[in-house]
Amino acid sequence: MNGSDNVRIPIGACIRGCTSNGHTPLIVTFLSNDSKNAHLRLSAPTSDVDATILRWQDQFYQFVITHHGYPATVAVEGQSGLYGLGFSLDEAKSTEHIVIPKEASEQQRLRESLKGKVVVVTGGAQGFGEGIIRALVEEGCITFIADLNEDGARHLADELNGRMGQTVAIPVRVDVTNEDSVEHMMEFVAQTTGCCDVFISNAGVLKAGSVKELSLKDFQFVTSVDYTGFFICTKFASRLMAWQDKAAKGTYLTDIIAISSKSGLEGSNRNGAYAGAKFGTIGLVQSFALELVKDHIKVNAVCPGNFLEGPLWSDPVKGLFVQYLEAGKVPGAKTIEDVRRFYESKVPMGRGCTTTDVVRAICYIVEQKYETGQSLPVTGGQIMLH
Ligand SMILES: NC(=O)c1ccc[n+]([C@@H]2O[C@H](COP(=O)([O-])OP(=O)(O)OC[C@H]3O[C@@H](n4cnc5c(N)ncnc54)[C@H](O)[C@@H]3O)[C@@H](O)[C@H]2O)c1
Repeated sequence: MNGSDNVRIPIGACIRGCTSNGHTPLIVTFLSNDSKNAHLRLSAPTSDVDATILRWQDQFYQFVITHHGYPATVAVEGQSGLYGLGFSLDEAKSTEHIVIPKEASEQQRLRESLKGKVVVVTGGAQGFGEGIIRALVEEGCITFIADLNEDGARHLADELNGRMGQTVAIPVRVDVTNEDSVEHMMEFVAQTTGCCDVFISNAGVLKAGSVKELSLKDFQFVTSVDYTGFFICTKFASRLMAWQDKAAKGTYLTDIIAISSKSGLEGSNRNGAYAGAKFGTIGLVQSFALELVKDHIKVNAVCPGNFLEGPLWSDPVKGLFVQYLEAGKVPGAKTIEDVRRFYESKVPMGRGCTTTDVVRAICYIVEQKYETGQSLPVTGGQIMLH
């Protein structure tokens, strides 16, 4: 992030905001090329941030009127390097042509409301996160697979980029419990795409155990990922989104979505650390929603039911079926199948939650322009809100 002596303006996020006309802004990627190639040279940033952004908005406006499109590259006076613009990351990197805005009908916009959006998914390398990434790539999003498991994230990104024939997934290592790590991740996002439109805080862990026996270490581990991690991610994601909003003049809504759980809506026997963190996340969602509405950031939670096919449950060594069988959590259960049937029988719709169910909830939240601070159950009727 660059700027004047005393103000650090995330230039990519502001340029991206300047390209918002109420619909998805352009991807803005930082390039280390010679700035002589620039199609538009913005004035130097000053310590009067609002005045700087006003000048930049005006320069963009003049450019678009004159050229009937957005510049392919932008330089900023006094700064080295270029910013490439495009509808896709690959187009932004190509730096060749003026970017002509696409006209779309309201119906088409509704149908394609996720197309072109930049989405960060923590814990994106496996489980729900992987399913969310796969589905959003199909919807036309550019995704960051943000995970502690760097190899898993890279492997998934390579597969998706190869299959789609363009850059649709970018792996990034992050530990959501570590402030420096999350801050670096958001700086990387800013350098690569300018900003993000949807931040999905999905990384989560679970250690089940009786309150009489659970170690403080295990309790704190669960809390640090599932609760504190959401605070840290929102802190750095919302800062960048607010800069984009400043330049977009409030014409564009962004989303922070926490993947909480049905255990965030009702207690979970011998699973207090997890349920406490998931309940707490909903408290953070409501509080952050109140504060960030002025930056046009919606903050909501999705509360899925049990994802019985996912690795958290089905891992043959450390999965919850094994853990719950060994902990005697299901009375009379002798096999993993007994444990599974027990959990399926609790759901009025008779099955576990799938990633498709969660993705539908995410699409609803992003498309919905009049909800914030909500926690949406996706539980087949197992949890009903009062
Ligand atoms: N699986 C379920 O039944 C279920 C139900 C309701 C809600 N959820 C929630 O959905 C989310 C995803 O669950 P899942 O079942 O897909 O989990 P999972 O264990 O399959 O995957 C979690 C991912 O998070 C990553 N991760 C863990 N700690 C991290 C950290 N500190 N920083 C960055 N990444 C980290 C892991 O590497 C992994 O890729 C979690 O928040 C979970 O609580 C799961």
